Amino acid sequence: MKFEIIKADNYEEMSRIAAEKVISKITEKPNAILGLATGSTPEGLYKLLIEDHQKHYTSYRYVKTVNLDEYVGLDKDDKNSYFTFMREKLFNHIDVDLNNTNIPDGTAANMEEEAARYEKYIDEIGGVDLQILGIGHNGHIGFNEPGTSFKSTTHLIKLAEKTREANARFFNSMDEVPTEAITMGIQSIMDSKEIILLVSGASKAEALKNLVYGEITEDFPASVLRLHNKVTIIADQDALQLI
Ligand code: GLP
Repeated sequence: MKFEIIKADNYEEMSRIAAEKVISKITEKPNAILGLATGSTPEGLYKLLIEDHQKHYTSYRYVKTVNLDEYVGLDKDDKNSYFTFMREKLFNHIDVDLNNTNIPDGTAANMEEEAARYEKYIDEIGGVDLQILGIGHNGHIGFNEPGTSFKSTTHLIKLAEKTREANARFFNSMDEVPTEAITMGIQSIMDSKEIILLVSGASKAEALKNLVYGEITEDFPASVLRLHNKVTIIADQDALQLI
């Protein structure tokens, strides 16, 4: 196995180890391209980056960010859009230039064009230096659901029911949960120079076990990470219980 697994005692420690890695990347390369994720898992990491920025003045002035995915059909200022999530949880509290933050546009009239534009942009800025990832219960990374080609680039995807159910906690009802998303593809994620995967909680234990010991298959998208040459998994004890 090529990847490293760092065992954290709990969510706080997982977030702290991840924050140290992100901060050291930015210190070493002030104009780093950061790949960012949404979901509950990286929230602790983002809090620590904000704290560090306030206390130690780590600067994001020359950093560019590229987010993995966005729901299709939600306005940018919808409280559940990833556009809003990233501003509230991170961007509004650090000195990143908002013009340098990028999220696929889930309101674009032509999703194919938007996907091509996004992919081209990532390419033009030289690719992602450090990609933060979470994992879905069904092994999705970004919003690449089971069955997505390992060769996929940014694309429109229909969300799995399991994913909609998992994310329903943020919406008033299941009906409000979008059915589609635009996501960086598996190839786009694999092109990152370095990846940090965060895994927390007992509900992710099965997924982590599959990722580490299961078959490398498009039916379990995260399994592709075993083919990358610089992946660090930072997981807490609850998530590691089947390892
Ligand atoms: C979400 C996101 C993923 C995220 C995953 C897990 O739907 N699109 O990028 O990693 O599902 O989310 P959470 O961290 O809330 O468990």
